[in-house]
Amino acid sequence: MTKTGILGGTFDPIHRGHIECALKVKEEFGLDRVIILPSGNPPHKFAKPVTAGATRLKLAEIAVRGLDGITVSDVEVRRNGYTYAADSLAELKEKDPSAGFFYILGEDTASGIAGWKDVGKLKDYCGFILVRRDTGSGGSFEKALEALKSIGADTLVSNVSVRQVSSTKIREALANGIMPDPELMDPEVSKYILEKGLYKGGRMTEEEIIEDLRSVLPPKRFIHSLGVAEEAVRLAEKFGADKDKARLAGLLHDCAKSVAVTQLRWIGMTVGDFSPDPAAGFSTRVLHGPLGAIVAKSRYGVTDDEVLSAISKHTTGDKQMSLLDRIVFIADYTEKNRCGGFFEEVRRLADDEGLLPAVSFACGETIKIILKRGESIDVRTVYTRNMAIYDMGNTDGAN
Ligand SMILES: [Fe+2]
Ligand SMILES: [Fe+2]
Repeated sequence: MTKTGILGGTFDPIHRGHIECALKVKEEFGLDRVIILPSGNPPHKFAKPVTAGATRLKLAEIAVRGLDGITVSDVEVRRNGYTYAADSLAELKEKDPSAGFFYILGEDTASGIAGWKDVGKLKDYCGFILVRRDTGSGGSFEKALEALKSIGADTLVSNVSVRQVSSTKIREALANGIMPDPELMDPEVSKYILEKGLYKGGRMTEEEIIEDLRSVLPPKRFIHSLGVAEEAVRLAEKFGADKDKARLAGLLHDCAKSVAVTQLRWIGMTVGDFSPDPAAGFSTRVLHGPLGAIVAKSRYGVTDDEVLSAISKHTTGDKQMSLLDRIVFIADYTEKNRCGGFFEEVRRLADDEGLLPAVSFACGETIKIILKRGESIDVRTVYTRNMAIYDMGNTDGAN
């Protein structure tokens, strides 16, 4: 049996602390190898900017070159959608059925293990090695041990001490074009980052956003987002709005569509006056608008208020809507992948009569559909329809 340690993490970017941990634990428990496993798209980090998986993988490969028995796996980075440890271990086990796996965990991560997806399966695939972190927060090691016990996991306790290296500080240096201390980060890794201009901070480029959305959203939703971006540009051209802003808002309008209530709870997030409480009839159907604006800012680095507003208002509209808000709201219905009589009528109205008649019709139909289903209507949809009807009668144009 090959004794294999698995060291998972975001590795954003990989530093000496990570490598030191892998080497020391390998030696302490006589492991044959340690696999560094950069995370794909961890569900609890949906509101944080995470560097593209392929980049983090490349940096990890540079960091382990020449190290005996330390390798890097791409199983998580390759997977689309959210990635979970249980799925990754299942894949590794399938590739190498005779290997004995040990998941290496820091005490901070281990404390929450009972809430991990398919934790029952995970503990059947592997044992755990718990590593002490000198975080200064007393009692967390005992808590972590308790958590592992509570799920019935086979646990080994490591006595190695691993240096605490701050990824944030390293990222700060890199953003300023400064090579981090070689004690903290392998100079070959730093060199690659600086040469490629990575970790510069600021807004993601359009290509980076598209790549990220491809991994975050289900394929159909991803294609729809590209369609809305294209349609928003067409409408911006027609009605005289900023095309770049329209494209960006269209691209990102559904960026929080796959975020689940549990993920909000994990990070303790509430969104405006929307309550993430399923008992109160909470639904991501409406919430992914305002939540999308938060994610666009925190994950993708968008700071333009007009773009954020259009993303925020796209699910229900609002009492007041700018031209860009209306364009993105309508493009969501009229992008080329939407088929059927309802969408065609919104498209016809937008093209022949203007945005306001299209908004009014879209809201009116939505209200009818929701009433038919016996669900409760978000009052903003009613406000939006009323606004559209009022503005049609009080302005010269119909946009
Ligand atoms: Fe949406
Ligand atoms: Fe949409």
